[in-house]
Amino acid sequence: MRFASSFFLRVVIVLSLAVSFASAQQAPAPDPVFVLPGVTGFTSLPNGIDIRAGAAHEQIVALRDDVVRIRVSRTEALPEDASWAVLAGARASRVPVTPLIRGSSIGFATKQLRVAVDRTTLELTIRDADGNIVQQDARPIVFHGDAFQIAKTMPLDEHFFGLGDKTGPLDRRDEAFTLWNTDSYRFQESTDPIYKSIPFFITYEAGRAAGVLLDNTWRSSFDFGKESRDSYSFGAENGPIDYYVFYGPTPKQVVKTYAWLTGTPPLPPLWSLGYQQSRYSYYPQSQVLEIAAHLRADRIPADAIYLDIDYQDHNRPFTVDQSRFPDFPGMIAKLNADNFHVVAITDLHIAKYPDHGYFPYDDGTANDEFVKNPDGSVYTGVVWPGPSVFPDFTRRQSRVWWGKLYRNFYDMGIAGFWNDMNEPSIFDSPTKTMPLDVVHRIDEPGFRTRTATHAEIHNVYGMENSRATFEGLLALKPDVRPFVLTRASYAGGQRYAATWTGDNSSTWNHLRMTTPMLENLGLSGFVFAGADVGGYAGTPTPDLLTKWFEIAAFQPIDRDHTEKGSAMQEPWVSGPEQEAIRRRFIETRYRLMPYFYTVAEESSRTGLPIVRPLFLEFPDAAPDRHPLDDDLAASAEFLFGPDLLIAPAPFSDLMDVYPVEFPSADWYDFWTGERIRKTQVHHPPVVGQPANPADQVPMQISLHPELATLPVFVRAGTILPMEPLVESTNQTPQGPLTLRIYPGDPGEGASCSGSLYLDDGKTMAYRRGDFLRMQFTCGMSDHELHIHIGAHEGSYPAWWKEIHAEVYGLNPASPAVHVESNGRSIPATRSAQSIDFTIVDDGKGIDLDLH
Ligand code: NOJ
Repeated sequence: MRFASSFFLRVVIVLSLAVSFASAQQAPAPDPVFVLPGVTGFTSLPNGIDIRAGAAHEQIVALRDDVVRIRVSRTEALPEDASWAVLAGARASRVPVTPLIRGSSIGFATKQLRVAVDRTTLELTIRDADGNIVQQDARPIVFHGDAFQIAKTMPLDEHFFGLGDKTGPLDRRDEAFTLWNTDSYRFQESTDPIYKSIPFFITYEAGRAAGVLLDNTWRSSFDFGKESRDSYSFGAENGPIDYYVFYGPTPKQVVKTYAWLTGTPPLPPLWSLGYQQSRYSYYPQSQVLEIAAHLRADRIPADAIYLDIDYQDHNRPFTVDQSRFPDFPGMIAKLNADNFHVVAITDLHIAKYPDHGYFPYDDGTANDEFVKNPDGSVYTGVVWPGPSVFPDFTRRQSRVWWGKLYRNFYDMGIAGFWNDMNEPSIFDSPTKTMPLDVVHRIDEPGFRTRTATHAEIHNVYGMENSRATFEGLLALKPDVRPFVLTRASYAGGQRYAATWTGDNSSTWNHLRMTTPMLENLGLSGFVFAGADVGGYAGTPTPDLLTKWFEIAAFQPIDRDHTEKGSAMQEPWVSGPEQEAIRRRFIETRYRLMPYFYTVAEESSRTGLPIVRPLFLEFPDAAPDRHPLDDDLAASAEFLFGPDLLIAPAPFSDLMDVYPVEFPSADWYDFWTGERIRKTQVHHPPVVGQPANPADQVPMQISLHPELATLPVFVRAGTILPMEPLVESTNQTPQGPLTLRIYPGDPGEGASCSGSLYLDDGKTMAYRRGDFLRMQFTCGMSDHELHIHIGAHEGSYPAWWKEIHAEVYGLNPASPAVHVESNGRSIPATRSAQSIDFTIVDDGKGIDLDLH
């Protein structure tokens, strides 16, 4: 559904005339094109406004002072107040508003926003308390049959982010997208739609950000200035006009509010943040064990190994091929004993295999769990097992039924489950998915009980599949954190599953594409996301695979995976030199686990992503406040948590020297500890002169790309917790906790801070207080650096007895530094870049002075 705006308006006028002419002659046909008439009546509500426009009905309410919800209907009945995405608690939230009734507009004010609806056009304008436009309709809402389109004005310097896994540059401006979950094997930069539908985006203009969530599950479209140079638009082919506008003004606040609306991801099991090994498929059983043993023998830290579809009997979900896996439970037990977590694929299609004792089919049929054709027969489509049937995941009962199918595997010790093909992908269909008239049943607390066509349910089907898995696992083991990996999803799907970017390719360009995809997924709620390391389709060159391992070490899900028929893709495949580099990066990921897990825990509370674009942390980096990520020099960079800047070459296969653009002026080299010299200092732009891009950023350096290195920088002002190397997260680190202390700008007190979060990594005990949290700070006064290591909060015991501190950035030319704690001198050594010392940590807090 796409509208060319000016053409479209002309059509509206011509058709309206034609319709009124026709109506004089005969009974009116339903308007194919319809524009809401002006306001014919309204009622101010305690929390918003209710508007009538002829037969149409619009309601705008404030859920919070910074969040409004807009629902519009062509008829009297407003769209049903139900949602797969938005939490019931958020939808029920309300704040009092002040009516703003003027001659030309009606609306209301909250403490942060002013909402005005034009009396003649029903165009909506939302401003902040200072009068800045947060969002403004560019023209009236237009209906075209069942479809609708909403257009908003778009200033020249407005940028767009989010929309989940869509390909292309991080900034969505000048692009247009369709949301329709699609199996996209070998997708390319121009492929759209792909696997997920996350109808949420962030608008960002001159440092002010707002969020928009269109809560409509039908095929929808978003155009950020492709058709029109001064407006952007969004709409759907059918379904409700039900959208939320929320104000930052910081981009971080927008992301947090999106999490408030749609939920945060659960705290994942720690092992899922370790290195994961996969391929389609490891079999027979002996090969799975060999791969696991090889990882251990080569001392490559690893936590998970995957079983793709070939472990199953004829690809039938919830079965095991006994000839390939003669002792499946024994294999799982052996892998578990060797600290591997096993993740097994369980696709959503159930083989249509009657009369053979195949429980999922027999029991599902007996209990009427599958979706149907319009004539009431069960819908059948061909997928991996051949003819298959499909659970009716929009029914609570069917989800509960599905969840119970996991009991045997889960009891056997399989730790995680992988829900693939859940767009859903269908092989014998020209559309690659179910016919639009397949009938789903909505039988669900909070929803009106009814049937719905596949056209309505398609985009939420994969999410409800992963929800059924997640909730099923929780029901089976309530005290264990489930791990579910899903390919398809919808807004809010982060509540149930981690995700990956699907069937990418083993090309340098695909490696480059992973960063904006993971950044936008992270901004869209999917914090725990990865891309197949090395690429899925095809065989990577040795250098590409190595570089991919390096970058993926700093991405939330680090899973090496490839397709059937490609060459082996494990870390060792290209010989010892390449393997050594790959191992070093995986080891770095494990050493950083205390930091990584602390960021992951923050994500689970706030919804803030792990992989962060620069503008999220540094919205004011450039004087004109454009997102630095849009600069070519920074286009491959990303932040790993708030403090680490990863700066691969923009085109990693080219050997040219490349610039690294820093979002602030004070950074350290993570590998060497050296403070980055300010080679490029920001000059405020001269009025009337074109801006030199290099002058727009605080600092740039140039680097020569090397295969064996990946530039990583630490923000000055960071205290970075690290741990001794382990071979899997099951192992307890042996030795001290390391704190790398990177003081900030000496001119501003050299202050720094950090924190640490720890728990058992597996259970829900953290919710009962069984965690450990620590805060660290440093600051300079009277020529002394004071370091404070906070007391242990929470009841979870530390695995360390001592803390090893490395203090960077102190003048290496100065005479020996003395370290004191409570008047007691602590022996310290000086290395090239740091002062190092070790102290006992009894959990009560430590104060240190360096002078
Ligand atoms: C498609 C998935 O995207 C891929 O990762 C998997 O290996 C194959 N299905 C086989 O299950």
